[in-house]
Amino acid sequence: MINTYAIILAAGLGTRMKSKLYKVLHPVCGKPMVEHIVDQVEALNLDKIVTVIGHGAEKVKEKLGDRVEFCLQEEQLGTGHAVMQAEVILGHSSGTTVILCGDTPLISKETLAKLIQSHKNHQDAATILTAITDNPTGYGRIIRNAEGNVERIVEEKDANDAERSIKEVSTGLFCFDNEKLFAALKRINNDNAQGEFYLPDVIEILQGDGETIHAVPADSFDETLGVNDRLALSQAEAYMRNRLNRKHMQEGVTILDPSTTYIDADVKIARDVVIYPGTILKGQVSIEEDCVIGPNTEIKDSQIGKASNIKMSVVHDSTVGEQVNIGPFAHIRPLSHIGNHAKIGNFVEIKKSTMGEGSKASHLSYVGDAEVGRDVNLGCGSITVNYDGTNKHLTKIGDGSFIGCNVNLIAPVTIGDGAFVAAGSTITDDVDQEALAIARERQTNKPNYAKKLKPKKK
Ligand code: UD1
Ligand code: CA
Repeated sequence: MINTYAIILAAGLGTRMKSKLYKVLHPVCGKPMVEHIVDQVEALNLDKIVTVIGHGAEKVKEKLGDRVEFCLQEEQLGTGHAVMQAEVILGHSSGTTVILCGDTPLISKETLAKLIQSHKNHQDAATILTAITDNPTGYGRIIRNAEGNVERIVEEKDANDAERSIKEVSTGLFCFDNEKLFAALKRINNDNAQGEFYLPDVIEILQGDGETIHAVPADSFDETLGVNDRLALSQAEAYMRNRLNRKHMQEGVTILDPSTTYIDADVKIARDVVIYPGTILKGQVSIEEDCVIGPNTEIKDSQIGKASNIKMSVVHDSTVGEQVNIGPFAHIRPLSHIGNHAKIGNFVEIKKSTMGEGSKASHLSYVGDAEVGRDVNLGCGSITVNYDGTNKHLTKIGDGSFIGCNVNLIAPVTIGDGAFVAAGSTITDDVDQEALAIARERQTNKPNYAKKLKPKKK
């Protein structure tokens, strides 16, 4: 068995992004670019994955945790120099080494496997993943000799006009014989337009030594897109979005308009879910069978149970049960739990609260820091007054109770099971179970008084 390793280059600052966030941490469909790469590489079951870090080292480490081994490139002296830093971990091993750039987030495990397979079949010293593009600006160009074999790679900034017109580019992805790679790296220099130690220069050295080198063309240039600036970032986002939407549709999800549906990489959606336009699913979201989501809905880090319906609403960091109806225009804020068969209607905000099974807040309510039992009816405009200007307080509403319209529940306060709170009440004291609470001024009617208030006609 030949051992296989991967080196992911992720030490660069990413100057062209013009950002305080390090390049490889910029998200594509909600996930840092470098994490997308680790996901794909991990799926290949290699012997070791080494990530070269430098700029933002701590942040990259935090993201990738123990999924990879790290080595530090203290000064960013080029991609060749970056690979040299992995020598402490891989320098004395025999085997095959795949090199990936941390800024090519679209690369798939299938393409990587194809590259590795070709490399092993040919017993190459080096195999380059190349791509053809009409707009090769910024990429290293593949220079082939008269026989059509790859001779070297020339960087954009070092290329002459003829070389610049070449449409075959290096994707920055290589497979090397590990020992030959580290030996050749010792012979590269930084005598070039950028004063950097280029990894691609290894190709010319190996070629000069008479080693065999092959180029494997990628199926599409899109998949090998290198993200150097925000423009390319938006292209990567669009490509990845397409890919994810397609995957969900293939697995039985109806997406009415994929071009306006934004689904992050880790979102899980069961069969027969229908997604209407303008839906954004962010982070760790799971949606069970038969839900109808959207239009114009944002769900982030939440779990949605079977056959629920969420329309024109926002749900964050919460769990929603089965057959729940939410919206239109509801806002479910973090740490809320909406029970099965519950209804959260128009202009209702729920924050850090539990709504029991079958409970309803159908219109114009605020429910914050509340434990609402089962089968409770919160009338239109009923509100938990949870904040006294300094602290937040809890409201408890027992099973089967009925809260009338326009009620203020001044927390901390408890409403017992089966209690009834009259419309327009401002409740400051606990209400016993099965009791009726009325807390409002009695109405006075003054006969014929209206006439006195009307201005006299001249
Ligand atoms: C690189 C290649 C180019 C190829 C292109 C494909 C070189 C010299 N050029 O160009 O041939 O067509 O990728 O996308 O290799 N990095 C480090 N340490 C460094 C410098 C870079 O870790 O000192 C990392 C970066 O974080 C990045 C990757 O290496 O993830 C590539 O660096 P970048 O500056 O983006 O290279 P390109 O100019 O895109
Ligand atoms: Ca790049």
